[in-house]
Amino acid sequence: MALVSGPGRGGMSDMPVEMRLFVDKHVRYIQSLDTRKDELEYWLTEHLRLNGLYWGLTALHLLGHPDALPRDEVLEFVLSCLHDNGGFGAAPGHDAHMLYTVSGVQILATLDAFDELDRRVPGGRQKIGQFIAGLQDPETGTFAGDEWGERDTRFLYGALNALSLMKLLHLVNVDKAVEHIQSCANFDGGYGTSPGAESHSGQIFTCVSALTIAGRLDLVDHDKLGAWLSERQLKNGGLNGRPEKKEDVCYSWWVMSSLANLKRLHWIDGRKLTEFILQCQDPELGGLADRPGDMVDVFHTVFGIAGLSLLKYPGLAEVDPTYCMPREVTRRCLGK
Ligand code: FPP
Ligand code: ZN
Repeated sequence: MALVSGPGRGGMSDMPVEMRLFVDKHVRYIQSLDTRKDELEYWLTEHLRLNGLYWGLTALHLLGHPDALPRDEVLEFVLSCLHDNGGFGAAPGHDAHMLYTVSGVQILATLDAFDELDRRVPGGRQKIGQFIAGLQDPETGTFAGDEWGERDTRFLYGALNALSLMKLLHLVNVDKAVEHIQSCANFDGGYGTSPGAESHSGQIFTCVSALTIAGRLDLVDHDKLGAWLSERQLKNGGLNGRPEKKEDVCYSWWVMSSLANLKRLHWIDGRKLTEFILQCQDPELGGLADRPGDMVDVFHTVFGIAGLSLLKYPGLAEVDPTYCMPREVTRRCLGK
């Protein structure tokens, strides 16, 4: 296991070309996403619009261009997705769901707009908190995504993420939620979607982050899980999500954020991973893809850039591994 070796502390222009991050191209790519309304892809991704806005806005903040999207328009759009019951839909007119509600709260937090929310929607924060709390199963402690009841540790994590940002964690039974996470733990140190399900780095991210928010990382075998996560690195430097799977840029985030919370980030080769992530850029039109040569999308763009931030790539703002948000923002919301 090699130590994390960062790409160096000099300016980006001193970098060899294979180590260069095309910041301006990525900013323009994200800005262009909302102007493509004549393209089919824009409408095919409508069910992800609020998530997409969170991914794009977070990437812009990490790239050092927090004002590259018009704040007023972003805020108007987010509020237009909010239902009377306190849940957010993916876009205006779409049903409320936990995953969009988390993105809605994350965007409001990033824009420092909780007070504006409460002015525009009286009791707004509290309503959102009640919507989330209403999705907890009092028996098992876990959470559903919506009123139809599908359960998954993604929703449990989302609930703790959004409630903690709004300082409303007391609305749910955190101890029960922790018990549920424990029931999803596997003998290999990892976690799956539900009790008995195979370990998967995406679910490990949700469980380790939820335990971090709950202040219960003491329940995790740091060395065992750290070893499983570091074995996700392949010869080409990229990380996979499970044994025998291909590398994918988004796993740079799901795996590394957990390693960061477990203080084991130095158990992967940071330089090789940096090179792999940078190879996934579209050097002309901006954006990052899941692997070199594939089509870019905003999902892989934010998780690639957030991964580079964890690797301390020069010039990027610091990311909070628990929330996938700028550290500056979570510090302001959490008061630490
Ligand atoms: C893998 O997805 C990733 C996960 C299962 C974790 C997803 C976590 C959330 C949606 C919670 C919100 C996240 C943040 C950052 C606030 P996949 O379906 O691509 O897995 P696959 O590679 O196995 O297809
Ligand atoms: Zn991916």
